[in-house]
Formats: sequence, C-alpha cells, structure tokens
Amino acid sequence: MAATVTAVVVGAAAWLQSTFNGQLPFFGTPQAANIAAQLGPLLSSSASVFTLGSSSFEEATARWQPWQSPSIDLVIKVATEADIEHTIRVANEHGKPFLAVSGGHGGTKGLSYVQEGLSIWMRGMTSVEIAEDGRSATVGGGILSGELAEAFSRAGKQNVVGACYCTGAVAPMLGGGHGWLQGRYGLMADNLISARLTLANATTITISETSHPDLFWAARGAGQNYGIVSSFEYKIYDKTPENEKWTYEVLTFRHHQLEDVYRVADTMIGGKDRIQPVELIHFTLWMRNPEVDTMNRVILFYLIYQGSSIPTKYTQPLHDLDPISATPPTTTDLLGVSDAVLVGKEGPFCAHSDTLALQRWPLSLASYEPISALRQTFDKLESLPPPHDNSAIILESYSLHGVQAVSDESTAFADRGGNMLVSPFIMYPFGDKGVDVQAEEYGKELRDILVNASGNPLNAYVNYASGFESQEELYGHEAWRLEKLRRLKREYDPENKFGYYVGIET
Ligand SMILES: Cc1cc2nc3c(=O)[nH]c(=O)nc-3n(C[C@H](O)[C@H](O)[C@H](O)COP(=O)(O)OP(=O)(O)OC[C@H]3O[C@@H](n4cnc5c(N)ncnc54)[C@H](O)[C@@H]3O)c2cc1C
Ligand SMILES: *[C@@H]1O[C@H](CO)[C@@H](O)[C@H](O)[C@H]1NC(C)=O
Ligand SMILES: *[C@@H]1O[C@H](CO)[C@@H](O)[C@H](O)[C@H]1NC(C)=O
Repeated sequence: MAATVTAVVVGAAAWLQSTFNGQLPFFGTPQAANIAAQLGPLLSSSASVFTLGSSSFEEATARWQPWQSPSIDLVIKVATEADIEHTIRVANEHGKPFLAVSGGHGGTKGLSYVQEGLSIWMRGMTSVEIAEDGRSATVGGGILSGELAEAFSRAGKQNVVGACYCTGAVAPMLGGGHGWLQGRYGLMADNLISARLTLANATTITISETSHPDLFWAARGAGQNYGIVSSFEYKIYDKTPENEKWTYEVLTFRHHQLEDVYRVADTMIGGKDRIQPVELIHFTLWMRNPEVDTMNRVILFYLIYQGSSIPTKYTQPLHDLDPISATPPTTTDLLGVSDAVLVGKEGPFCAHSDTLALQRWPLSLASYEPISALRQTFDKLESLPPPHDNSAIILESYSLHGVQAVSDESTAFADRGGNMLVSPFIMYPFGDKGVDVQAEEYGKELRDILVNASGNPLNAYVNYASGFESQEELYGHEAWRLEKLRRLKREYDPENKFGYYVGIET
C-alpha cells in the first residue's frame, strides 16, 4: 500500500464527513466502510472510528503477542454503553464478527477465528468512581489492571487486580482473576458486586446476585462468553500503613538445585495441607540468564510478603541453600511488586509485540510433589532446540485463603483447589506455521509430564489457556457446571457471537 493515512483520531461524525467527502481514502473492505458509515451518526461524540492504514489503527490493534491473533479491519473506540449497543446491533445487521478488546493480552486459539472482524475497543471507558460510603467503586469496562490499582491507591483504597499492569481488568475478572491481594480478598470475580452487560442482541442488562443471578454466576469464571461489560461495581478496602507495604527478595539458583529449592517451597505451602499464610506468595521462574549461566536455565525465586519485612523462617531456608545471588529485601507497594516480577508498566512481559510469539500451556497443581516430575519437565525444557530454546516456565504460588473462603458452587470459577499455577511459555520468533505447530507440541508435552505425574485431570486457568484444552479442563469437571453454562449460552447467546475466546460449545 503506497499511501499512508494520517491518524483518524477524530469524533466519529467528523471522521465520517471527512472520509465520505473524499478527503481521506478508505482502505477497509466495502463492508467495513458501510458499517462505519452507518455507525458514524449514531456514536457519541467521544467515540472514534479507526480504519486500516491509520497509525491509530495500529495502536488499537496491537497485541501482547502475535500467535493466533484476531484479524481486524475496523476499530470502534467506544466511549459509552450506547456506543457498544449501536456497534453490536449494526455489526449483527451486517453479519460482521466483533470482539471486545481491552488490554490485548488474550492469547487463545479462538481469537484467530475472528476474520475481517470489528474490534470494540474499550479503551475509551476507563473511569473509576468511588462510592460515597467508600466501600465500592464503579469502573469502566476498558480499564487496565494497573490503572485500576493506581486509581484505588490514590483514593486510599485497594483490592485484588491482575498482577500485570497492562492486561485489562474485566477480562481477568471474567475468568476468575488472580492477583497479589487474592489471599486477603479472594479472586477478582469474588469482588464483583454487579456489572452492566451488553448482550448479543445489543440489549444491556445489570447482572448481580439479584438481577439475572444465573448470568452473574456464569460471568464469574466463564464471562467472556456472554456479553461485553461496559462498567462494573467492585468492592474496595481501606489501605492502611500496615497493609499497604510489601517486601520481596529475588534469589537465583542453579539448575542442579531444583530439588532442594522445591523441597523448601513445598514446606511454605505445606504441600496439600495449604498452610501458606495469607501474607506469603512465591513465584518461581525457569529461564535463561546468560550473565549467570551460559549453558543452563536458572531458577529465579521471588519471595513476596505483605508487610515491611519477611519473617526469617521463610528467608533462611532459601539462603541456606546457597543461591548464586540474592537481592537485599526490598520494601515497596502493590505496583512495585508487579515491577519486581517484570509485569509492571515498563516490564518486558507487559509490552505488546508482533514479532515474539508466546504460547502458554497452563495447568494447576495441588503441590510441588512429585518433585521428580518438576525435574523431568525442567530437563525437557532445557532440551528444546532453536528457535524455541528461549522458552520458560513460570510457577505462581499465590495465597489462597480469600479464594477458598468462597464456596465452589457460588461462581463458575471451577478450580479453587489448585495451589499453584504452572505455565510453560513457549517463545520463538513469529512467522512460520511449522514453527507454531512444533511449539504447540512442546507446550502440550511439558504440560502432560506434570499433569500425568499429579494424578489429577488437567485444570487449566481459562485466562492463561492456549485454547487447545477441553471444555471440562477449562470450565470444570463436574457435569452440572457445563450444563448450566451451556443452558445460559443457548438462552443469551444462541448465535455464539461471544464464542471467540474459549467458547462454550452447546
Ligand atoms: C503478561 C501477562 C500477565 C498476566 N497476569 C495475570 C494476572 O496477574 N492475573 C490474571 O488473572 N490473569 C493474568 N493474565 C491473563 C489475563 O487475564 C488474560 O490474558 C486476559 O485475557 C487479558 O485481558 P486483556 O483485556 O488484556 O485482553 P484482551 O485480548 O483485550 O481480551 C481478552 C478477552 O476478554 C474479552 N474482553 C475484553 N474486554 C472485555 C469487556 N470489557 N467485556 C467483556 N469481554 C471483554 C475479549 O473479547 C477477549 O475475548 C496475564 C496475562 C499476561 C499476558
Ligand atoms: C501422559 O499420559 C498419557 C495418557 O496415559 C500418555 O498418552 C502421554 O504420553 C503421557 N505424556 C507424558 C509427556 O508423559
Ligand atoms: C435480548 O435478550 C434478552 C435476554 O434473552 C431479552 O431479555 C431481551 O428482551 C432481548 N432484547 C431484545 C431487544 O430482543
């Protein structure tokens, strides 16, 4: 394409006029042009339309990583609930697939089923309003997790939000929503009071314990399948000098220390007994660090504690193992913890990329035992040849008190028992289909080693899913769960307009 169009960041009506007066060429399909023309006069003055070829279009469609990404030829940056309704209605009239986009960090196979799709870009809806009683907030559906944490903090408040600054807040919440404060307050889904949900037929309803309670149940664990959240009401708690401080240490171990490291880690969580205290979190990361070890991956151990110091009973056993290096204890705030684990605003895992593919193959484990399976998985990871040889595995052990204080049946989130989130990350330069398929095989194999050794069926956190999991693996092995989700799907989204994440198959 020879010509480039300057950014079309203007109110939709003005855009419409300038484009269709012939002042700007239009690079999308005729269908996209028709939809844009029809929507223009209906949208609010704060809404924008971005078309193929504009620089704003690039920004609006940038994704965390390129594997299985959706193909979009029209972006409607919505600013009001009515904008969402108009957009869905007009898209439906034209048989145009549409997809809500907030942070762009979703990465499932289903997203690639969106072809010549319309993005309902939620980034025009990021307001946060603290209720007068200080116990809840009303939040726009396009806010990022980090922005939400910042807004709460400015108001002297806090609650669980996704650990990564750059992911949306709604998408994590709809699939459960893990974060630093889940040990205290439960999952993000557990803190949802109500939401405004625009359905497939362009009608917006309120979901809560008292309004459409079945859909409210489904939205908390399988929510990507039923509608678009334009805003939501969320619990908040006071920040205090005691609860706002976090301290972490990062210890680096060599590959041969794996068994010793996980014997210690297993005592922290008490194996299957789950004695892990509410303040304690640890993440471990198996990755390359050539500055420390040019041959083998190292084991990074992030020991994280809510408080201004970490009790010696947790630090000492790790230091006794003689790590290659250990940072001094660092005291910070909630956002500082995200920075430490590389998912803060400027962190490498936060950023968008169209060149580095990153497949996730998640599973959950009840304990680190048998450690021999961790060893087998580590060695398999080490054996991956180029171009997959920079792959990594992350093991996240959050505190679970708040999560397990909520009953299993009360939400669609099916895996409150999983102690640990383990995710092989298969990384490689994007571009070759064969390399993608090879990566998929590696991901499956690494996951299978651990699942087989655990003796439990696979439970895969839907927000980390690759999309190659079964419905039961994502939404729960108890038959009643899927039956209920399927019934609701038939009722509220019979044409499967919201089937692109990891769809409920009716
Ligand atoms: C680096 C990284 C760190 C992560 N950290 C965490 C974490 O700490 N805790 C955690 O729980 N998860 C975490 N995740 C997983 C995260 O929850 C998912 O990747 C999630 O899909 C990201 O949401 P998004 O808005 O950024 O992505 P998007 O791709 O924009 O959206 C993902 C899905 O949600 C839908 N969606 C987006 N906005 C809305 C809306 N307003 N209403 C309805 N549907 C919507 C989209 O249509 C799409 O199907 C992390 C992911 C990455 C890549
Ligand atoms: C896991 O178990 C399945 C079923 O028994 C088997 O087919 C598969 O080869 C095993 N995979 C690994 C990696 O051990
Ligand atoms: C849209 O669907 C909902 C839920 O099925 C229903 O209550 C509502 O009446 C429908 N609206 C329209 C305009 O058909």
